[in-house]
Amino acid sequence: MTEKPREENMQELIVTPETQSEPMPGAAFEPAIVAFVCNWCTYTAADLAGTSRMVQSPNVRLVRMMCTGMVDPKYIIKALLGGADAVLISGCHPGDCHYINGNYKARRRVKLLMEILPRFGIDSRRIKLTWVGASEGNEFAATVNRFTAEIKELGPIDTRRLPLL
Ligand code: FES
Repeated sequence: MTEKPREENMQELIVTPETQSEPMPGAAFEPAIVAFVCNWCTYTAADLAGTSRMVQSPNVRLVRMMCTGMVDPKYIIKALLGGADAVLISGCHPGDCHYINGNYKARRRVKLLMEILPRFGIDSRRIKLTWVGASEGNEFAATVNRFTAEIKELGPIDTRRLPLL
């Protein structure tokens, strides 16, 4: 099976006013969360959580990256502009990155983005960076469940602010 180019994968995640379905009146808020996960650790953990039938929230859509160091901040912004209420970035533990220091680069980039986003009215709690190793399926499921609960508490993203980005 051939892999789709990353931009094409991103395109499938974009929710436009035309493709966004209206929530049922009175229905509880269900956040849309995009997760950029590293192929070597967190993606494997997500797979393990799935095959082990661990209970996890269905609100998260995974985008598999070779390394968190490849997560350009513009992908995160694009996901938020495209309808995501939050973005999770998760990869190998510090010292375990298969590309030596990709996760350290991701940590610096996410930290900067979290400082910038509040200036545009976006709560920095909508971005989360975690480290989940390949054998930590339970940790992945717990992270997804915790983050979904946090975003449910925050409520939907204020889309009126997004055109400022
Ligand atoms: S290879 Fe997993 S974070 Fe770099």
